[in-house]
Amino acid sequence: MLSKLSRSQSLAVLCRGLHSSLSSATSVAPKKTIQGSLSSDLIFEREAKYGAHNYHPLPVALERGKGVYVWDVEGRKYFDFLSAYSAVNQGHCHPKIVDALKAQSEKLTLTSRAFYNDVLGEYEEMVTKMFNYNKVLPMNTGVEAGETACKLARKWAYTVKGIPKYKAKIIFAAGNFWGRTMSAISSSTDPSSYDGFGPFMPGFELIPYNDLPALERALQDPNVAAFMVEPIQGEAGVIVPDKGYLTGVRDLCTKHNVLFIADEIQTGLARTGKMLAVDHENVRPDIILLGKALSGGLYPVSAVLCDDEIMLTIKPGEHGSTYGGNPLACRVAMAALEVIEEENLAKNAEIMGNLLRSELMKTPSNIVTAVRGKGLLNAIVIRETKDYDAWKVCLRLRDNGLLAKPTHGDIIRLAPPLVIKEDEIRESIEIIHKTILSF
Ligand SMILES: Cc1ncc(COP(=O)(O)O)c(C=O)c1O
Repeated sequence: MLSKLSRSQSLAVLCRGLHSSLSSATSVAPKKTIQGSLSSDLIFEREAKYGAHNYHPLPVALERGKGVYVWDVEGRKYFDFLSAYSAVNQGHCHPKIVDALKAQSEKLTLTSRAFYNDVLGEYEEMVTKMFNYNKVLPMNTGVEAGETACKLARKWAYTVKGIPKYKAKIIFAAGNFWGRTMSAISSSTDPSSYDGFGPFMPGFELIPYNDLPALERALQDPNVAAFMVEPIQGEAGVIVPDKGYLTGVRDLCTKHNVLFIADEIQTGLARTGKMLAVDHENVRPDIILLGKALSGGLYPVSAVLCDDEIMLTIKPGEHGSTYGGNPLACRVAMAALEVIEEENLAKNAEIMGNLLRSELMKTPSNIVTAVRGKGLLNAIVIRETKDYDAWKVCLRLRDNGLLAKPTHGDIIRLAPPLVIKEDEIRESIEIIHKTILSF
């Protein structure tokens, strides 16, 4: 088991900097659009001039989205195969969610938690019943849900488990990604996340992902409060653990009285073909983190779900957020959850995902060296040569009408909105095949 300060190179297998392989792109966009609005080129230039350079976007400037499609400012239409990192599971601008947002925005948007509002309780009842936990703690971004889970785990460790004060440890898996705060990067094995930002949060330890013996060894330490893990590692490149891993995690955590925290922020809400990715093994974590698609991409909404023994260790005044649980967020989240159920998005993700992977397997293996994923959370691994790499493939996919983004140099994530239909997925597969064969 390694802490941030003592981690070995071997744990940094996934650590190649995101930016190192991103060669600069040449845009084919003209300066003026038909509508007379700013051209793509001017949009790129303005952002570069006035915005922080903390992202390296694919050069495409979007102005509109509907379902599985987005349009750029020149009016070109694309399949969206990123879905805002799985936030837009319900498709862009889903009418039901937009209506909920519009209606509530004209009534009451923010009260803070200094007062009650008439929507929060309705949402809390709905989401806890849907996922079968006693309580929910509403936050905004995914990383805040992760922070909340760490605080809950530490509080539980001291007040319930009896770990000596300030000795609690939380275990993470190498390759994890849960956001960009100081805590999140303190558990990261990716130098482009943590390098240059120390000193780091103490009390975090790392073990390899998908390694039950390593977890068992780590849990021998009586000061371990929790193991926080993604059921499938998204940002690491859609790393699917062996069958039985989640069951094993559950069993080991139970045996050692350690909380199992499942970060379902990217994998949850139907993305992998089940409402939660842990449902594939029918396990019930102690704490579930939701975010991203909890609003269908309209608003930052995240949630932490657990039972009273854990949740009620945090008392009034000990945690919160001005916007967390605001009525607008709650209405949007309720509509977003209803859409997932009403439109059977988990089933569709499973069927379309199987189709996508089986067709992608037919791409030449000298270019695409691996195809993996579950439901509609998928990735292909591109063999890098001097002629092509994942970034160049994504540029050409864009030119052919499909948007995807490399993660970690040679991996391209393929994760369209879950509302995608069979003819649309077949058309997308054709674009991907055509693009890969063009190299
Ligand atoms: C698994 C996982 N957890 C947490 C986060 C952080 O979410 P946010 O960017 O909303 O803070 C992400 C974001 O990609 C994620 O993939």
